[in-house]
Amino acid sequence: MRILFHFGMTAVLCWTGSTNGAAQTQDQRGGLYTSTQAELGASLYEDQCYSCHGELAAFVPEMAALLADHTFRNRWTGRSLGELFTLIREEMPQDAPGTLSAEETANLLAYIMRGNRFPVGDAPLSDDAEQLHQIPFTP
Ligand code: HEC
Repeated sequence: MRILFHFGMTAVLCWTGSTNGAAQTQDQRGGLYTSTQAELGASLYEDQCYSCHGELAAFVPEMAALLADHTFRNRWTGRSLGELFTLIREEMPQDAPGTLSAEETANLLAYIMRGNRFPVGDAPLSDDAEQLHQIPFTP
């Protein structure tokens, strides 16, 4: 796993062509979500997202985008958690968009963050999109 992780970081560097991602990764902040949130998010994910997205990081052909692989991290690094929160809240699940509460969306985001190896913490992740817009997606 460790080796894959480092490979992922290298890929980010190559793709963005900047040292920004690496610098922020070295500077590991405290965790941004609780393990309770990630667990609640996991069961929501099972119910409402798994049918299209499958496992967070295991590739299955014919599935929608993986939410915790190198491609996903490359696509989201440098954007904000608020943008990801808003996308999920407004557009997902794709067959019933707009049905998730802010709290459910934060739990799902916590689950996706855990899958992307953001460190877990003691304080819950905010369910306020404005606040989340201040936080970069930096696993
Ligand atoms: C009916 C199928 C379906 C369901 C159910 C679904 N999604 Fe999606 N989702 C998609 C498709 C299709 C895309 C567009 C990207 C793609 O083509 O894979 C997408 C894209 C996304 C993206 C953006 C991916 C990226 O790489 O930028 C996120 C995040 C996401 N979905 C989260 C969720 C979450 C969380 C749930 C559960 C609440 C969910 N989705 C349920 C089909 C679905």
